[in-house]
Amino acid sequence: SGPATVSPTGQPTGADQARMAQSGSYLTNAQGTRLPDTDHSLKAGPRGPVLLQDHHLREKVMHFDHERIPERVVHARGAAAHGVFRSYGTAASVTQAAFLAEDVETPVFVRFSTVVGSRGSADTVRDTRGFATKFYTSEGVFDLVGNNIPVFFIQDAIKFPDIIHAVKPQPDREIPQAQSAHDTFWDFVSLHTEATHHTLWHISDRGIPRSYRMMEGFGVHTFRLVAADGGTTLVKFHWKPKLGVHSLVWEEAQLINGVDPDFHRRDLADAIECGAYPEWELGIQTFPDTPDQTFEGIDLLDPTNIVPEELAPVQPVGLLTLNRNPSNFFAETEQVAFHVGHLVPGIDITDDPLLAGRLFSYLDTQITRLGGPNFPQLPVNRPHAPVNDMLRDGMHQTAVHRGVAPYRPNSLDGGCPFTAGADTGAYIETPVRVPEATKVREAPESFADHFSQPRRFWLSMSPVEREHIIGAYTFELGKCYEQAVKERALAVLANIDPELCSQVAEGLGLPAPEPTVPLADVEPSPALSQLGGTWPVD
Ligand code: HEM
Repeated sequence: SGPATVSPTGQPTGADQARMAQSGSYLTNAQGTRLPDTDHSLKAGPRGPVLLQDHHLREKVMHFDHERIPERVVHARGAAAHGVFRSYGTAASVTQAAFLAEDVETPVFVRFSTVVGSRGSADTVRDTRGFATKFYTSEGVFDLVGNNIPVFFIQDAIKFPDIIHAVKPQPDREIPQAQSAHDTFWDFVSLHTEATHHTLWHISDRGIPRSYRMMEGFGVHTFRLVAADGGTTLVKFHWKPKLGVHSLVWEEAQLINGVDPDFHRRDLADAIECGAYPEWELGIQTFPDTPDQTFEGIDLLDPTNIVPEELAPVQPVGLLTLNRNPSNFFAETEQVAFHVGHLVPGIDITDDPLLAGRLFSYLDTQITRLGGPNFPQLPVNRPHAPVNDMLRDGMHQTAVHRGVAPYRPNSLDGGCPFTAGADTGAYIETPVRVPEATKVREAPESFADHFSQPRRFWLSMSPVEREHIIGAYTFELGKCYEQAVKERALAVLANIDPELCSQVAEGLGLPAPEPTVPLADVEPSPALSQLGGTWPVD
């Protein structure tokens, strides 16, 4: 095939495929001019000086010089795949989202990640894993940007820069790269006890998954579903792997990191390539949308809370199958831009203060990371629904917009009036009543209990899972230099469970402190144990 051609709209089509596939029969420069040679600079004689007029040399080296873009400030290390989501229709009574109606097939792109390490860090570190899904629905893009742990470290996004500064490598030596074995991490989580629940999950076997294919995923926040009749339901999203939930043990993880730092991305790509397509069921826990937004006394706006599956069963609503590897890591896995604000009619947000900060942060960071405001035009980010926005110009604009009046309504471009309403299929924010309130910079009283839910998690663990948790706390805290940090971390453990605290204290050679709050009287939730799940997977 010959060199590239470009469609009248400026979008790459047809013969441009040749360039993308690197399969043209001859090489060109970026302007489409045929090149005879790309191995020799233009010189004044074979042994003479290289000439400044060699545009091909300058274009080639200039482009190479700019190949790297900033990595994500968090979740830099990732692996992704394309797939399809087929809905069962079981959510159709609670949401009008078209992709959740019966038997609808929606293309998806899923990116898994670690949170802390840089782009080149190892896969099998102890860390939370990202589980971000882009649904290219007929009504626009819906992103479910979740993690493999159902709760978060903090309750308010204003602390996000602080927790990330604490978990990233220490600024003096830039070590450790991607582990929780350092003073700043334990300093933060022992000073901000709202982090206790997440830390316990992170230190449990969930922190070292066997494979991305064997992880649960969680939307974490409570969202709001809106039915066709306007009725609303609060919801938490869950991904349940068909292969079950499995972890590595710490020694395996350490060895694998050395032998094959790409273990998880290789596992995902190999499984897909050989046709063993990974599958997850999407499930929902639903709760009545009451004015207080609590369920069985649990504040649904607090992202450090779960609702035990025994209290609100997870109902399957569709099946995700990953069946195609990306063909270009940079174009797809690296340039994909997820956002919790990418919503479709039938799914809305709640007033979780962590979610509010995320709604700002992702868009903001992507402007820097992806070089300006036009990243939704990148192929992996393009909606599969028609786009007719009034967004114009800017860095890396690739669309050639027509018309003279990029505003609505206008009377020049066909006189199209601007109409929006429920009957048009438009996204309408749910008219939720905002409580009369005084402006304050404080957390609600219902966010103050930091130990009941961690205690429930601990009590739900099997003996071997408890052994791993004790071993992990002892190992990680044993790496701290500061005695005061270790002692404060033990004080947190005492408020979860005295046995856990005394075993870790013994391992560290320190006295076990007494609890400072009464131990919560909570029932175990067998579904929290990797060995005792209640999910009805075949
Ligand atoms: C990236 C999950 C909280 C800021 C990500 C990614 C995931 C994720 C999965 C990687 C997306 C990808 O693969 O490209 C979560 C979850 C949270 C949470 C589940 C809590 C429930 C926050 C908060 C902030 C934040 C509170 C900031 C206030 C970011 C940023 C990125 C990111 C800046 C990088 C995005 C990019 O460069 O495209 N998060 N996150 N996250 N997150 Fe979060």
